[in-house]
Amino acid sequence: MQDQARIIDGKAAAAALRAEIGLEIAAIKSAGGSVPGLHVVLVGDDPASRVYVASKERLAAEIGMNSVAHRLPAETSEAELLAKIEALNADDSVDGILVQLPLPKHINSGAIIDAIDPAKDVDGLHPINAGRLAGGKEGLVPCTPLGCMLLLRQVLPTLAGLEAVVIGRSELVGRPVAQLLLQADCTVTIAHSRTRDLASVVRRADIVVAAVGRPHFVRADWIKPGATVIDVGINRLPDGKLTGDVDFAQALNVAGAITPVPGGVGPMTIACLLRNTLTAFRARRG
Ligand code: GUN
Repeated sequence: MQDQARIIDGKAAAAALRAEIGLEIAAIKSAGGSVPGLHVVLVGDDPASRVYVASKERLAAEIGMNSVAHRLPAETSEAELLAKIEALNADDSVDGILVQLPLPKHINSGAIIDAIDPAKDVDGLHPINAGRLAGGKEGLVPCTPLGCMLLLRQVLPTLAGLEAVVIGRSELVGRPVAQLLLQADCTVTIAHSRTRDLASVVRRADIVVAAVGRPHFVRADWIKPGATVIDVGINRLPDGKLTGDVDFAQALNVAGAITPVPGGVGPMTIACLLRNTLTAFRARRG
């Protein structure tokens, strides 16, 4: 049997990225400038969203950003939320705006995302930023896909020519990560729920990105020996434990490198949000 796969440590990579951004903010501060401002908006009290928003708020503050969380009641109307977004758009001290998803059902998420100033859209979800990404132009890129790419580059210095299979076609992960892999000159396949013979599609891949949202969906015998596996899934099992989309224990015996859950892609998402906020700050304020 081959050696066990290298486990890609997303927690360490995220801490290193945050430290790097923290140093840049300290330099901005010591030069007498105002620091980047990240504003996260949470509507309602979904327990998972509350935890995510608290982490974003804390980690942004920890590296010296002006970190503000706006917690609005579940009954907030779409018009009220739009007014909040307009106020943040108009406030020059706000560099990044993130509206935590999912929103309550009575609010049209698309209308809210469309209202965010694309220059402050640190989630990279505004159609202008999605279009820029699809066109291979500079813009703000969704945080989880960006995190996947940074982790991939830790183990694969050259991505050009590699076969990449992305499983999942969501706006938040599947589509944008496929665009980034294409920009890196991979040969990209996007597989989804209607893909025929998924196992044999995945077996071609030098890089597998699993973003399905189903525990242990990707089986070890689908993975090409030596492939790099990025597991974006965060699934809660009945016993309360978190697990990814990949059968990690078995995949360890086949893959060349693999991200764990937790401790893989997850921590990179917030670190990339902070990076996007710094990027937006630099683009807006020079
Ligand atoms: N909910 C789960 N993931 C995300 C994300 O990346 N951005 C936002 N805004 N909401 C989320």
